Amino acid sequence: MLIKNIVFSAIQPSNNLTIGNYIGAIKQWINIQNIYKCIYCIADLHAITNNNFNNLKTLSLNTLALYLACGVDPDINIICLQSKIVEHSQLHWILSCYVNWNKLKRMTQFKSKYMTYNHLSNKITAGLFTYPILMTSDILLYQTNYVPVGYDQKQHLEFSRDIAKNFNKKYGNIFTIPKPLIPKIGKITSLLNPMKKMSKSDINDNNYISLLDKPELVKKKINNAITDSDNPPIIKYDLKNKPGISNLLNILSVLTNTNIIDLEKDLNNINYKQLKKIVANEINNILFKIQKKYFSIRNKERYLNSILISGNRKAKIIAENTLNKVHKVINIK
Ligand code: AMP
Ligand code: TRP
Repeated sequence: MLIKNIVFSAIQPSNNLTIGNYIGAIKQWINIQNIYKCIYCIADLHAITNNNFNNLKTLSLNTLALYLACGVDPDINIICLQSKIVEHSQLHWILSCYVNWNKLKRMTQFKSKYMTYNHLSNKITAGLFTYPILMTSDILLYQTNYVPVGYDQKQHLEFSRDIAKNFNKKYGNIFTIPKPLIPKIGKITSLLNPMKKMSKSDINDNNYISLLDKPELVKKKINNAITDSDNPPIIKYDLKNKPGISNLLNILSVLTNTNIIDLEKDLNNINYKQLKKIVANEINNILFKIQKKYFSIRNKERYLNSILISGNRKAKIIAENTLNKVHKVINIK
């Protein structure tokens, strides 16, 4: 029998997902779900690193329903909830004893959060600092071959690979070395600040399009997106000088499966307002389908919970197996 390669990925349920999550992560998940053995996780333990949610359970179920609404198939993939598989936290601790803290200090995601919270030092927790170790544990527990993520997670993936390699050097072949799968378009940027990543935890919700935004709101947000003042307007992909237009082209390119060069040619004669109308329409077409499915399943909580119970059970068997191996080689079994 042919043994399938393993894919693992996760998203934090820190808010409802955005088109950045869809384009950077979930679209890839769906493309590969028939090829590999895929484990798609809801990273609720990561979500508690920077916020105190009082509705994390609800957000986790929203995230699950959005996975399904986007086309993640619960019959062929393992869909699980990070906090319910205790091996993630257990491996996290063990690996944290094998990572030099200088390595963690170099993580750009930590550094940027550190800068953002600088005036609020009580927000800079040890969890925020060791976040990449938990992410590494998520990946290594499943002997993962491929990790489909957005460009912003590239450094964390390199970190995971280094930890796996160092551990293997010391103890033999314990972990598979994971490889990232990153879409070519890079990252989707914030609508009002196209130098920044579009993020679902942005304090200004005009910066992102949520997968649950209504059509009128999408039109309004895209209409207000920052472009540039070129006169006459030029529809051209140029990340450095025209980041706003490039972001709209990126979104359009992915949603219509058209390459950027063809888009530039096709849209050569239109102005920015017209471009925004086209982009908003394409987003609304895809959100219409996602929302229709989402609202048909979101209140079926027994169904949603049953997917997690079954996914957690399957995930735990694989995770336990890896953790046992680790316990053995470090002599605590
Ligand atoms: P997060 O929202 O930080 O939990 O990210 C979950 C997944 O979505 C990761 O694979 C990210 O790389 C991806 N992602 C999040 N925001 C973006 C974005 N603005 N552009 C591309 N990918 C993104
Ligand atoms: N840290 C990832 C992000 O914010 C989410 C995540 C948690 C993840 N664990 C993971 C992604 C394991 C891939 C693999 O984008």
